[in-house]
Amino acid sequence: MASTPIVLVGVLLGLVASGSAYEFHVGGSHGWVEYHHEKYNSWAERNRFQVNDTLLFKYKAGEDSVLVVTDTAYKSCNVTSPIESYTDGNTVFKFNRSGPFFFISGAADHCKHDQRLIVVVLGIRNHKSHGPTPLPPGPSSSASGSAVSRVYLGAMVAVAMALGRALLI
Ligand SMILES: *[C@@H]1O[C@H](CO)[C@@H](O)[C@H](O)[C@H]1NC(C)=O
Ligand SMILES: *[C@@H]1O[C@H](CO)[C@@H](O)[C@H](O)[C@H]1NC(C)=O
Ligand SMILES: *[C@@H]1O[C@H](CO)[C@@H](O)[C@H](O)[C@H]1NC(C)=O
Repeated sequence: MASTPIVLVGVLLGLVASGSAYEFHVGGSHGWVEYHHEKYNSWAERNRFQVNDTLLFKYKAGEDSVLVVTDTAYKSCNVTSPIESYTDGNTVFKFNRSGPFFFISGAADHCKHDQRLIVVVLGIRNHKSHGPTPLPPGPSSSASGSAVSRVYLGAMVAVAMALGRALLI
């Protein structure tokens, strides 16, 4: 009998965790621009991207664009045959798989001026923390991952015990 609340709470927490996608604003307040003060890839390296997270690209509609391209096209700034192309000025791109995604500007020479971005989306098994995390990769991130698990477990047990008491009364 006492195990029922624990299972219920576990299911509820699981649903909340998988439903939380994060929207990243590319370039912060400056948006998607030709000469950004920080390389977009330096920004991307500091963040952890997961499946179903989204990128928001803000730029002048009609004057710039977001192209999703191949690795090869990314390297050579080749804008002639993108996989996907957006020109609306307020583009929300959702990651529908793990692995690398390549973005370049379609405006003349912008890509050569580093208006380009590589995002590597983490696999399901790498889900540890979420959102913009300035933590360096390495042993410390797995340490924080297990800390998070412990906090989750602690919270689940606490809530389950409270529920159990409430049911007994
Ligand atoms: C992403 O969203 C889809 C549809 O909403 C869902 O089926 C899938 O489980 C989600 N994937 C992750 C990793 O959260
Ligand atoms: C750009 O890509 C297209 C399609 O893949 C290819 O035909 C073309 O030769 C490429 N242009 C350059 C300059 O590499
Ligand atoms: C992700 O979306 C792209 C374009 O919308 C589509 O071509 C691709 O098949 C999708 N991949 C998966 C794994 O759903």
